[in-house]
Amino acid sequence: MHDIQIAPSILSADFGDLNAEIASIEEHVDIISVDVMDGHFVPNITVGAPVLKCLKSSLPFECHLMISEPEKYLEDFAKAGASIISVHYEATGPRTAEILGRIRELGCKASLAIKPATSPDEIREFLDLMDACVVMSVEPGFGGQSFMPESLPKITQLREWKSDLDIIVDGGINNETAPEAIAAGANILVSGSYIFKASDRVAAIASLKGS
Ligand code: DX5
Repeated sequence: MHDIQIAPSILSADFGDLNAEIASIEEHVDIISVDVMDGHFVPNITVGAPVLKCLKSSLPFECHLMISEPEKYLEDFAKAGASIISVHYEATGPRTAEILGRIRELGCKASLAIKPATSPDEIREFLDLMDACVVMSVEPGFGGQSFMPESLPKITQLREWKSDLDIIVDGGINNETAPEAIAAGANILVSGSYIFKASDRVAAIASLKGS
């Protein structure tokens, strides 16, 4: 059984002081999640590899590429310090296997993300090429949205298919939805607004692990 890992998403942090924001919580979490958005695959724009390169943490960075044509940017993010690169199946389509292989060639963990409307059946063929799967529990693009419970059976299905897969749940994760996601089989919880908007961030993080 996997240990539960917490991955704060900096999407809801102060973009003008990201390293201080990371420093305020990094000893209490396991992974730093960086949401990369291009204003085309999702209706929002955030940051690219040059910003990742400036981020400082002893923790691994998960780069969630909510972008079209992610294959063009894999090397940039690997060189900028990504440990896990998550690409969206809805953006990779027929090139999915090739792209996942390239991510591993670059020395990063290969992670495939699926939007709420995408069934796990569509990505089952890629499971042996994946170190992780991001199951979106909100429509990608913005933090602070409500958790979509229809993501839970998708998590369970993936866990049944591959017991050693890192299953990342992303969107609307708080002290109420975290236990549901864990019970369904998720082992990495991405949480943005619940952590960074909390008056006591450390207590918020502890509540995600059920303490
Ligand atoms: C959506 C983003 C968010 C973020 C988490 O594209 O991926 O899911 O990481 O945001 P919260 O925890 O505020 O829903």
